[in-house]
Amino acid sequence: MTRHFLNLSDAGGDAIAAILNDALDRKAARKGWPKGRPDADAPLKDHTLGMIFEKNSTRTRVSFEMAMRQLGGDAMFMAAGQMQLGRGETVADTSRVLSRMVDAIVIRTDDHAKIEDLAAHADVPVINGLTDLSHPCQIVADLLTLLEHGKALPGLEVAWLGDGNNVLASIIEAAGLLKFNVRIGCPKGYEPDAAFVEQARAAGARIDIVHDAAEAVAGADVVITDTWVSMGQDHAHNKIAAMFPFQVNDALMGKAKADAKFLHCLPAHRGEEATDSVLDGPQSVIWDEAENRIHAQKSILLWSFGLLA
Ligand code: CP
Ligand code: NVA
Repeated sequence: MTRHFLNLSDAGGDAIAAILNDALDRKAARKGWPKGRPDADAPLKDHTLGMIFEKNSTRTRVSFEMAMRQLGGDAMFMAAGQMQLGRGETVADTSRVLSRMVDAIVIRTDDHAKIEDLAAHADVPVINGLTDLSHPCQIVADLLTLLEHGKALPGLEVAWLGDGNNVLASIIEAAGLLKFNVRIGCPKGYEPDAAFVEQARAAGARIDIVHDAAEAVAGADVVITDTWVSMGQDHAHNKIAAMFPFQVNDALMGKAKADAKFLHCLPAHRGEEATDSVLDGPQSVIWDEAENRIHAQKSILLWSFGLLA
């Protein structure tokens, strides 16, 4: 059966753990090498990844291109607006055609139903490069970063500040799969997707939703935030005003554990969801997090191709 990676649950907890271990091993094995040199085993030699982007991207695009290069294969970027998809060819027909031409597809789109449609008509693996619902590849990179910085995942206390968005949905999903806890501090009306919350709670994770920033970060091992306005959303002044009490600044970081780490998927809106002092401060691991998009996605690709358990 074709392995799609639309959400973390498509792989499951054991496969995510295997992906993380593989990413740690592969990253260590190529330490100090030029970034474009293929890994010694070049496991995706002769394979091409097609990448459809309906929205802007720096990290996701570049990390998938470098991931394929390091795995010995190639990646092909397609701006959706320049494809026939952009002038009405259906997602299903696009999927059927690309399945004959490339070996796997990454798509960044708005409506999650589009990636489900793409996967339903694809004979090759489809990977979620971000939808309005979720951003699973980002969270594998986040977990990899936390492991590298000495955090064990089971029982980890994660604090999320700000908007209940796509990145948070995948963090909540990961909590259920890998048995950690999330306390969300958000303004009323900006809570996360209820289905993800219920699923994680049913799997045994503690998911708290509070409307006070200090309460959210108290005793946290990790503090995470993201832009208050995601791509495709209005930059509404009332939303920004409601979010300011949830800004991650030095005073707020001081309420987490002394050895807490700070994560942000980037791009950051400096001075909004986080201050420069936090983004560039000693607890921030955001540049490792960004680099780890490459290492995490290499192992996600290998899982998708059936080369990892
Ligand atoms: N974090 C992330 O997905 O960044 P890009 O939008 O630059 O891909
Ligand atoms: N929540 C953000 C993440 C960007 C990587 C967005 O969807 O725009």
